[in-house]
Amino acid sequence: MGLVVAMDGPSGSGKSSVSRGVARALGLRYLDTGAMYRAVTWWMLDRGVDVEDASLVAARAHEPVLTMGTDPDKPGVSVGDTDVAGPIRSAEVTKAVSAVSAVPAVRTRLVEMQREIIGDGGIVVEGRDIGTVVAPDAPVKIYLTASEQARAERRTAEQAGTDVAATQADLARRDRLDSSRAISPLTRADGAVEIDTTEYTLDEVIAEVLRLINERTAV
Ligand code: DC
Repeated sequence: MGLVVAMDGPSGSGKSSVSRGVARALGLRYLDTGAMYRAVTWWMLDRGVDVEDASLVAARAHEPVLTMGTDPDKPGVSVGDTDVAGPIRSAEVTKAVSAVSAVPAVRTRLVEMQREIIGDGGIVVEGRDIGTVVAPDAPVKIYLTASEQARAERRTAEQAGTDVAATQADLARRDRLDSSRAISPLTRADGAVEIDTTEYTLDEVIAEVLRLINERTAV
């Protein structure tokens, strides 16, 4: 089994940038599981499914056919023949994704797919439940955090035309939903190393994760 790095944490903690940087540095694949929940959410909205009705979402959870790219330099995501890498970042999808990702039928299907993609390892996997549910045996588990203010500032810098206060309110709402849902809530896994990235640059966090990987995998 090749190396599996489980990278969990709330929105804006730096998971994507850190995961991609680490995968690039070590020549590993990269899987963005949040993009999978977003892609299913995009499909539900596109089909006019009322995402607040969990039974309607569950009834159609098996329908969207996702294709995930695992190249850290261009991690593509498609639903059927449609490239949805752009649309899954829209405000509509961001608003609806917590409801869709709380539906057990959606999670069961995506977790199964995530384990298939992990396969024999050699991958950095980012999400909310990677160290707890998807890959609890991963030899390296990281839990990234940052202050709510820092996370909101980072997200605002990424998305032109948004303001920090509104972004912070939205982050707080999603954190609350993602951490309090009944199934696979966001929580630090047993054995996960917590890194608070508030005061660090991206390169410093990547260096710290690479150091941890070295330490954990040294024989
Ligand atoms: O990482 P992100 O913001 O793109 O994730 C989008 C949503 O998907 C997030 O609000 C929670 C959900 N999610 C999840 O429930 N489990 C995961 N492993 C990854 C994301």
